[in-house]
Amino acid sequence: MKGLILSGGKGTRMRPLTFTSAKQLIPVANKPVLVYGIEAIVAAGIQDIAIIVSPETGPEIRQNVGDGSRYGANVHYIEQDAPRGLAHAVLTAEEFLGDSPFVMYLGDNLLQHGITPLVEEYRSLECNSEILLTKVPNPQSFGVAELSADGKVIQLTEKPPEPKSDLALVGVYMFDQHIFEAAKAIKPSKRGELEITDAIQWLLDNGYSVHPHIVKGWWKDTGKIEDMLEANRTVLDTFDRDVRGTSSGESQIEGKVVIEDGAQIIDSVVRGPAIIGRDARIIHAYVGPYTSIGNKCVVEQCEIENSIVLENSSIKHVDGRIEASLIGKNVKIGRTHRKPAAYRFMLGDNSEVGIT
Ligand code: DAU
Repeated sequence: MKGLILSGGKGTRMRPLTFTSAKQLIPVANKPVLVYGIEAIVAAGIQDIAIIVSPETGPEIRQNVGDGSRYGANVHYIEQDAPRGLAHAVLTAEEFLGDSPFVMYLGDNLLQHGITPLVEEYRSLECNSEILLTKVPNPQSFGVAELSADGKVIQLTEKPPEPKSDLALVGVYMFDQHIFEAAKAIKPSKRGELEITDAIQWLLDNGYSVHPHIVKGWWKDTGKIEDMLEANRTVLDTFDRDVRGTSSGESQIEGKVVIEDGAQIIDSVVRGPAIIGRDARIIHAYVGPYTSIGNKCVVEQCEIENSIVLENSSIKHVDGRIEASLIGKNVKIGRTHRKPAAYRFMLGDNSEVGIT
């Protein structure tokens, strides 16, 4: 089998971070979301992987993932000129995939238990496609499946305003080569995309077998900031304590905390679950539960929890606790002594700042 990871798209819901960075590279517990996907595919015994990138996301994704050898994978890149839909992305990979069955993994999805048993099930069932489903409270935001009383797929609809069930399509699919025929037969949807949901419906309507698997354990689509923070909390909860950096002065490191090599905790409290990245410095500060501090960050004289801070940012001398925040790379938050005493911002388009 081969692997196909979709990491094109524009990431409009994650602006301003996605003006300068691919959304699939935003880290959850200090690891890019996309890397969880690569690792899950490799763990299922698949090494040959193509990543679909856009002209915008391509250079940064290539730079971060390289040839994939560090993950035990052999990674190829395929550029999709514009986000014309998930089924269009499959078609751009037709030459790479050939007649090999494949697992398609959306680069912004995270699954708790990986995909190994699912790939094994697909191999043993000899069906044309296997789809993963899970119950969600907001099915209108996803592809939705309607099943018959005996558990067969009847109907798939992309983001229906009035969903017929609460079973959402999870962003991992298994296909054989018939999916190309399906993707070529369908027309773009109202939002102008070739929908994978419509292509799978075409398989059903044309007598091909589509096996539904209800996913147990958590699954996250990290499309929005709240989803990112939730994914971060969920992954940090699975960590064991591992302190490799140093702590000094009056510091306290409480609970499930990962402190990576070269990180320094100075006169500070770090309360887990939390991760402090390589060479980061926490000085006279409080880092509370469910926080990921990236490599080389400085957090000084302030309090932060339930947040993600990307690498090389510094947050200093902030009164009041920082909460539920996603802070990009190389950001500087601090105090100045310039007059007049005032807030001074330099924020990218679509930034959000909350002040009490
Ligand atoms: O997360 C599960 C959902 O993913 C499913 O329930 C939906 O049926 C499915 O259509 C999809 O919906 P999204 O609206 O979340 O898809 P999104 O546009 O976020 O794209 C998912 C990934 O695929 C993301 O990493 C970007 C990439 N992508 C997207 C498009 C439209 C591409 O590589 N090329 C594309 O043309």
